[in-house]
Amino acid sequence: MVIKVLNGPNLNFLGIREPNIYGKKTYADLLRAVRAECKKRGIRVSVVQTNEEGKLVTEIQKCYGKADGIVINPAAYTHTSVAILDAIKAVGIPTVEVHLSDVSKREDFRQISYIRQAVELTITGKGIDGYLEAIAYLDGKYGKGKTK
Ligand code: DQA
Repeated sequence: MVIKVLNGPNLNFLGIREPNIYGKKTYADLLRAVRAECKKRGIRVSVVQTNEEGKLVTEIQKCYGKADGIVINPAAYTHTSVAILDAIKAVGIPTVEVHLSDVSKREDFRQISYIRQAVELTITGKGIDGYLEAIAYLDGKYGKGKTK
């Protein structure tokens, strides 16, 4: 099983940016946790962070015919990007939307997720553990289905 984990703008600043909202764990901690979870499950994973919307679209397109699942935190582009929604629809790969914070309890402009209609599952407010849950969901659906 192959999955891609995609992270949008400012997520490379985890641990530095607004720790009261996003916590003190760093992007390196996120990478470590995701890689360890995938290793445990025998999943091949590639993790990408970019501040650019177009790069996220390109990375989603690159999954076509190659990845069995996508985990994506589009960060601020969640609330603005039709292009990312279209890319997820275009590739037709099972996708899980993850947000570190509980966006439902935040500003009005964060209440819209353009990608939500194209994803199978949305996980919010669980910090880095949300990524691990997303991986477990995809593994349970298409992989060996090892449960914790
Ligand atoms: C976020 C929530 C978004 O509203 C915000 O723009 C982010 C991070 C989260 O992980 O909680 O950059 O996606």
